[in-house]
Amino acid sequence: MSNDPLLQPFTIKHLTFRNRIITTSHEPAYAEDGMPKGKYRAYHVERAKAGIALTMTAGSASVSRDSPPAFNNILAYQDEVVPWMRDLVDACHEHGTKVMIQLTHLGRRTRWDKGEWLPSLSPAHSREPAHRAFSKRVEEWDISRIVRDFADAAERMKAAGLDGIEIESYGHLMDQFWSPLTNTLEAPYGGSLENRMRFSFDVLRAIRERVGERFLVGIRYVADETLAGGISAEEGVEISKRLKNSGLVDFLNVIRGHVDTDSGLADMIPLMGMKSAAHLEFAGEIRKTTDFPTFHAGRIQDVATARYAIEAGKVDMVGMTRAHMADPHIVRKIIERREEEIRPCVGATYCLDRIYQGGAAFCIHNAATGREETMPHIIRMAGKKRKIVIVGAGPGGLEAARIAGERGHDVRVFEAMHVPGGQIRLTAQNPRRKEMIGIIDWRMSQCERLGVNFSFNTWADVDTVTAENPDVVIVATGGMPDTEVLSEGNEHVVSSWDIISGDVKPGKNVLIFDDAGDHAALQAAETIAQTGAKVEIVTPDRAFAPEVMGMNLVPYMRALQKLDATFTVTYRLESVRRDGTELVATFGSDYGGVHKEKRYDQVVVNHGIVPMDELYFELRPLSTNGGEVNYEQLLEGKPQTVERNPGGRFKLFRIGDAVSSRNTHAAIYDALRIMKDI
Ligand SMILES: Cc1cc2nc3c(=O)[nH]c(=O)nc-3n(C[C@H](O)[C@H](O)[C@H](O)COP(=O)(O)O)c2cc1C
Ligand code: SF4
Repeated sequence: MSNDPLLQPFTIKHLTFRNRIITTSHEPAYAEDGMPKGKYRAYHVERAKAGIALTMTAGSASVSRDSPPAFNNILAYQDEVVPWMRDLVDACHEHGTKVMIQLTHLGRRTRWDKGEWLPSLSPAHSREPAHRAFSKRVEEWDISRIVRDFADAAERMKAAGLDGIEIESYGHLMDQFWSPLTNTLEAPYGGSLENRMRFSFDVLRAIRERVGERFLVGIRYVADETLAGGISAEEGVEISKRLKNSGLVDFLNVIRGHVDTDSGLADMIPLMGMKSAAHLEFAGEIRKTTDFPTFHAGRIQDVATARYAIEAGKVDMVGMTRAHMADPHIVRKIIERREEEIRPCVGATYCLDRIYQGGAAFCIHNAATGREETMPHIIRMAGKKRKIVIVGAGPGGLEAARIAGERGHDVRVFEAMHVPGGQIRLTAQNPRRKEMIGIIDWRMSQCERLGVNFSFNTWADVDTVTAENPDVVIVATGGMPDTEVLSEGNEHVVSSWDIISGDVKPGKNVLIFDDAGDHAALQAAETIAQTGAKVEIVTPDRAFAPEVMGMNLVPYMRALQKLDATFTVTYRLESVRRDGTELVATFGSDYGGVHKEKRYDQVVVNHGIVPMDELYFELRPLSTNGGEVNYEQLLEGKPQTVERNPGGRFKLFRIGDAVSSRNTHAAIYDALRIMKDI
C-alpha cells in the first residue's frame, strides 16, 4: 500500500473514506428543472471513476420554497429529488466514492423574484449586496417551518442512499443568525451567542432525530467572518467547540471570510495571483483546538500543497474542488504516479463567475467538464492514423494538437511567433494573471509527450500547408485587435494589445474606449494607471466590463481604485481628431441626443479582434468540405462528413478567434469537439 499521506483512508464513525481528497460542495448550475439529472450525475461519476474519496454534491441544495435557487440549485424540498439522487449515489458508489450533499436555506442570499416569488428572509430586515434583495425579518412560524424543512430534506437524502449531509451555514440563513451583523432579533434567537446559535441546534437536533446516528451530518461554517462587528476568530473557536460538544455533528468544514460581496467571496475563494491555501493554517488551528474531524478547501490547487495539508495534520480531508474541475482525474494520476500530467487549475475562476451570471460552471481550459455526457476527458485512439496540420499555437491550436496527438495522429503545428501562447501570452503580462500561462505550458508538455511536431517562426501559407500533404487542416490563427471603429480618426488610436504588450508607451491622460467589456481593457487600464497616468474607461454599455464578471473584477478594482482611474458608462466614442499635442474625442450615446468632447493625449480602443482568416479562405477551394462544419453532426458528436468538393485534398476546419472574437474557453471547446471525432 502506498505511504502517500493523501492516499491513506480516514474513518468517521462507520464510514471509511478511501483517501483524503474530496471535492467540497459546489453548485455548478447543472441541475435540470432543479433536479440532478444526467448531466449532474455524469459530472460526479467522472470524479468517482478517477478515485476521489468523497464528492460533496450540490452546493446549497434548497430545503425550503422560500430559499429559491439563486444559481440553479437542487431543490431538496421536493420528493422528486430522491430517485435522481439515488441514481447519482448508486453510480458513484459503484466506483467506491462516498457521496454527500450540502443542504441549506439561503436566507437573504437569494432573490425574491426567483422560484415561487416568496419573500426572502433573514434575522434582520437587510439586504445582501451580492444578491441585492431586501429580506423580510423572520418570525417564529418561519423558524419552526424551516427546522422541519431541514429535517425533511435530510430524510430524503438518507432515503436516496447518501452517506451523509453537510449543512451550509456560512453566509446563508444559519449564520445570518450567528452573525451580529445580520441578526437584529431579540431572545430567544438573537442577542447572546447561545441565542444566535439556537436556530442551528434546533435544526441539527431535528435532523439527527430523523436520520439517526448511522448517517454523517457535518457543517460548513465560518469561524472568522473577517468583518468588523461580525463573527471574530475568537468567537469562531467558541462556535467550533459548541458544534463539536453538541454531539450533533460528525465533522467540521472550516471557512474563513464572508460572501456577501464579490470582494469577500474572492478573499474566501482566492483567484489566480492571490494566496494559495490562504486559510489552511487557520483551518489547522480549528482542528488543533477541537481535535475533531476537519475538512477544508480554499485554493489548494496542487497535489504538493494538498499533501502538506494532510501530512502536517492541518486537516483530515482536503478539498481540491476547482482543481477537479480542471482535471477530474487527479487521484488516478497520483496513484499511477503521473502527477506531472495533471491539468492545472490556474485559478481563472471563470467557473464560479459564470454561475452568478446565470450560466453553468465551465472550466476555462477543460471543455469536457460539465459536458461529460458528450465530451470526453480521456481521448480515445483514432481508428486510422492521419496527418493533421494545425496553424496557430494559441490555446485553441494547442488543444487541437493535444487531442490529435492523443488520437495517435501525425501532427504538425505551425506558429508565426517564436513561442506558443497567442493571446494568453498577453494576458500573462499582468503579474497577477501570469498563471494563465499554465494553460499553454500544460498543453506544450502534453504535446511533447505525444510527439507533436512544432515549427515556430513560421508564417504558414498555402504552400507550407499543402507541402505537408495533410488529411486535415485546422486553422487556429486567432485575430488582431479591431480598432477601426470610429467615423473619423482611426489613425490616432492604439489598441489595448499595444499597451499590454508594451509596444506602445502609455500616455499621461488616457482614454480607453471599451466596446468589448472584456479583460483587455481593464488590463490595459492597469498597465497605464501604474505609470502614474490618468485613465478614463468609457463604455457604451450600462455597466463596465460586463464580460469580466464579479470575482474576476475584484483584483482589477483593488488595483484601479487606488490609482487615478475613472469609469464612465453609456457613452460611445464616435471620432477622434488631433489638436496640437492633444487628441479631441467626440462622444455620443446609444440613448441619443448627446454630443460632447473631451481632451486626452492618448486614445486606446478595445473592440475585440478581427479574425486572421486569409489562410483559411485561401485553403477553402483545396479542401473537400470547403471549411463547412455540419452543426448537427458536431452537436451529436459524430464525425464530419460534409463533402462539397470531391477533388479536394484535405478536410479544413477553422476554430477559435480565427472564426470570431470570443474567449479562451470557446477556442478550446471548438478544438475539442472537432478533433475528438477526427
Ligand atoms: C462553481 C462553484 C460553485 C460553488 N458553490 C458552492 C456552494 O454552493 N456551497 C459551498 O459551500 N461552496 C461552494 N463553492 C466553493 C467550493 O466548495 C470551494 O470552497 C472553493 O471552490 C474553494 O476551494 P478550491 O480552491 O479547492 O476550489 C463553489 C465553488 C465553485 C467553483
Ligand atoms: S476556470 Fe480556472 S479556476 Fe475554474 S477550474 Fe478552470 S482553471 Fe480552475
